[in-house]
Amino acid sequence: MQDVIAFIDAHRQRFVDELVEWVRIPSVSSDPKHAPDVRKSADHLASRLRELDAARVEVWPTAGHPAVFAEWPGPPGAPTLLVYGHHDVQPIDPIGEWVSPPFEPAIRAGRLWGRGVVDDKGQVYIHAKAIESFVRKAGRLPIHLKLIVEGEEEVGSVNLDALLRDHARDLAADFVCVSDTAMFGRGIPSLCVGLRGLAYIEVFVDGPATDLHSGSFGGAILNPVNALARMIASLHDDDGRVAVPGFYDEVAALRPEEREEVASRPFDEREWLASTGAPAPWGEAGYSTLERTWARPTLDCCGIAGGFQGEGAKTIIPARASAKISCRLVPHQEPDDIVRKLTEHLRRVAPAAVRVRVESLHGGRPYLAPTDHPVYEVAKRAFSKAFGKPTVFIREGGSIPFVRTIADATGKPCLLMGFGQPDENAHAPNEWLDLENFHLGIRSAAYLYDEIARLGRGGSGRPLESE
Ligand code: BES
Ligand code: MN
Ligand code: MN
Repeated sequence: MQDVIAFIDAHRQRFVDELVEWVRIPSVSSDPKHAPDVRKSADHLASRLRELDAARVEVWPTAGHPAVFAEWPGPPGAPTLLVYGHHDVQPIDPIGEWVSPPFEPAIRAGRLWGRGVVDDKGQVYIHAKAIESFVRKAGRLPIHLKLIVEGEEEVGSVNLDALLRDHARDLAADFVCVSDTAMFGRGIPSLCVGLRGLAYIEVFVDGPATDLHSGSFGGAILNPVNALARMIASLHDDDGRVAVPGFYDEVAALRPEEREEVASRPFDEREWLASTGAPAPWGEAGYSTLERTWARPTLDCCGIAGGFQGEGAKTIIPARASAKISCRLVPHQEPDDIVRKLTEHLRRVAPAAVRVRVESLHGGRPYLAPTDHPVYEVAKRAFSKAFGKPTVFIREGGSIPFVRTIADATGKPCLLMGFGQPDENAHAPNEWLDLENFHLGIRSAAYLYDEIARLGRGGSGRPLESE
């Protein structure tokens, strides 16, 4: 093990240089113009992995963007770890706010800046380089390792279920590990044990067949923008609770021990608020900020369109308006059920003088880890060794649809080992990766593989679906 760690320490700079090459490929999954780049990103990763003595490296096509699969054998009888990440990245707008161009990665102040550096290429590379270090210094990994790197995470993983079904046998594993989350704060090794789910819809409100003169028709034809604004306003009450009937029906209440544990985290609310730039915190009455983001469901209007957007003034009754609305879900809410309740509510509150249509965009289910499984203690120990500091359990408010899907399909625990930072600017301009975390992440992954080898299989290793 010391040789492996020494190798990681000795190749620090080269690992960063290699990551930079991958980040240069603009694998923006939401933009059809970038589809060839997402493909290029998959091929690039596949060729890097082929250099690491993998038993198999394959690019798996989907109905959308391709995923990369690779597999390394370990000693006979060793457990199998399935590692997941994604190689697609978020769009770059507003482009004017980037200090250095998003696809020309730059190093400043110990950080690597560029789109996808932390979400999620850097975190995938952490595993690739831990794998390389074992292969070069120990001849092979101490466990069987399978790597699946999706190309559609940022667009809702819509083809993931089919991919998992088609490759159920390839993906059989004893443990699952996902590196696509953040740490609690600087230098605090963190194991994320809960993620929220997601239900995402778009609502369309149609009025007249075309824009109308607001002098001739205003006051006599309902304005779809006005109607939509009222509909959106009806989605929360004055206490910041979601006002959709039945929204909280399935929500698992926070247990007193959970609330105590959340409260014991050294969370600096003022620093957190300052990092957002918002003037004040806000949220559901009766809950702390961490509870609101980790363990309570939400509803947010992510975008709204309608009416005249140009310079100056134009007097019209717009023909239509629309809004994109997402809900973050907690155990035991189900995306389909929430979409149904939200749709019914929007139809009910819509005035009869407009037509309303709701489309479901995508969703994912929430995850809560079985932390009494021994693999969580093992993972804690591995990270603490790498960082030289105790590891904390945290939850996060974001969503990774794969996590719950794979956990349900395999019945195996999923380790969320993330090396981002809360203010890493993921999905925003000036995304960055702390290079110290990148390095310690590689060490953590190496210690994790080693610890899991010692834990043993702890599971049957049966395929995703029993044959
Ligand atoms: N890496 C994030 C998930 C995440 C975000 C974990 C924040 C922890 C904290 C992932 O790439 C992501 O952005 N997921 C989307 C999911 C969606 C597109 C289905 C999200 O959370 O909005
Ligand atoms: Mn991600
Ligand atoms: Mn993301």
